[in-house]
Amino acid sequence: MKDSLLKIEKDLRNFKDLKIAQNCIQPVMGKGNPKAKIIFIGEAPGAKEDKLGEPFVGRSGKLLNELLESINLSREKVYITNIVKFRPPNNRDPNTIEKEGCLPFLIREINYIKPKLICTLGRHSMNFFLPKAKISESHGNLYTIKTPFLKEINIFPLYHPASALYNPNKRETLFLDFNKIPTVI
Ligand code: URA
Repeated sequence: MKDSLLKIEKDLRNFKDLKIAQNCIQPVMGKGNPKAKIIFIGEAPGAKEDKLGEPFVGRSGKLLNELLESINLSREKVYITNIVKFRPPNNRDPNTIEKEGCLPFLIREINYIKPKLICTLGRHSMNFFLPKAKISESHGNLYTIKTPFLKEINIFPLYHPASALYNPNKRETLFLDFNKIPTVI
């Protein structure tokens, strides 16, 4: 049977295999245009995302909105999601078990949307596609890769907006890298 975002979300709501899935308020499914050409993939929901059930609705989300607007995009035109779909407690980094446990959901989202470009936000998301890459060297560069579960796919690593909130240099770099998106797509 054909997959759908609704089906993915339903399965996500029934998924309790991870401790973080049992301890969070709710899973945070990706959101945006099901026909998006670009998917942005962050790390994991924070407190606000857990409360509202939507990705990037806190301070990082506000900066992400500004970055999108700077290249004439909006949340309605793109699809925004995370590697990990449940909030890790105390905003700690998600661990390998949590990332691997949530991967089937991410892969289904990507395979359903079939974007032209995947913009990874931060190293957790980047390292899923480019395991050996270093964000300081790879940000703002386009990589075309093949994986067993996704066909050929274009990856554009970006710094995570949270890392740019208090760092003016990273903020500037993030805006410059975003500026390249219309030409790389
Ligand atoms: N940071 C993330 O990586 N994802 C969110 O959804 C919010 C903050």
